[in-house]
Amino acid sequence: MASDAPIGIFDSGLGGLSVTASIRRLMPAENILFFGDSAHAPYGTKTAEQVRQRCFTIVDDLLAQGAKAIVIACNTATSVCATALRERYSVPIIGMEPALKLACDMGRGRPQRVIVAATPLTLQEQKFADLMARFQADHTIWKQPCPDLVTIVESGHLSQHQVVNAALERYFKHYDLGQIDSIVLGCTHFIFYRNYFQDFCPPQVAIVDGNAGTARQVHNMLSETDMLNSSGKEGHLQVSNSDPSTQIQERSYELLDYMSSVSRYAGLSEAEQSES
Ligand code: DGL
Repeated sequence: MASDAPIGIFDSGLGGLSVTASIRRLMPAENILFFGDSAHAPYGTKTAEQVRQRCFTIVDDLLAQGAKAIVIACNTATSVCATALRERYSVPIIGMEPALKLACDMGRGRPQRVIVAATPLTLQEQKFADLMARFQADHTIWKQPCPDLVTIVESGHLSQHQVVNAALERYFKHYDLGQIDSIVLGCTHFIFYRNYFQDFCPPQVAIVDGNAGTARQVHNMLSETDMLNSSGKEGHLQVSNSDPSTQIQERSYELLDYMSSVSRYAGLSEAEQSES
């Protein structure tokens, strides 16, 4: 396959645009086909089988459009079917998982108190149980499902501070946040809430995510397989969605603009993690 073939990136909806922004920053020459499945979002409150079926349909379609690699820009879809997708398709498939390792490593050997915020389905799948088992002997870890943080993004209410803060209150008021070291944003929709989390939490709470690590993993994989686009020209980004409304298109570009204005994503220098 030619190295100027596009990378196919998909999510249950708009959250994967946060990953797309990280990938574009690191690899601006790459052509990208992004697909958001907003007509079927959220995935996090569906059954694993429903999500699996959607993922197969979407990946079939991205490959039919010539994708050279697939990025599952969704922790939920990765937990449910990354293995099955890799068995079925021969192109490289990169998934995501909550950046729990990064959060625990930040303690540099000291036990950490970490809340993992993710979708209900991610937190109930075996993949997350296996990840948690690697760290829970040395650290204290809480699982916090936050499904409304997905629907707030999808319905275009992200800029409504009252709505967002009421959701954060609902999900986090029962924690003693003064005793927490970090909150892991284990869903790609939650990346858009970084500033809200920072304002909501005391300053010692680190807000951690795996987007930069995923972008690096995509880069390494393309580099190792000699598939990096070396044209030197800016790549093309195609954004499509199962919800054909103009609102979803507009929301998609607003979120991409927002991500390019967030300076933290310019560096991509932190040692972050994606799915291992
Ligand atoms: N953005 C997805 C994730 O990273 C899923 C959100 C949803 O549809 O529930 O898990």
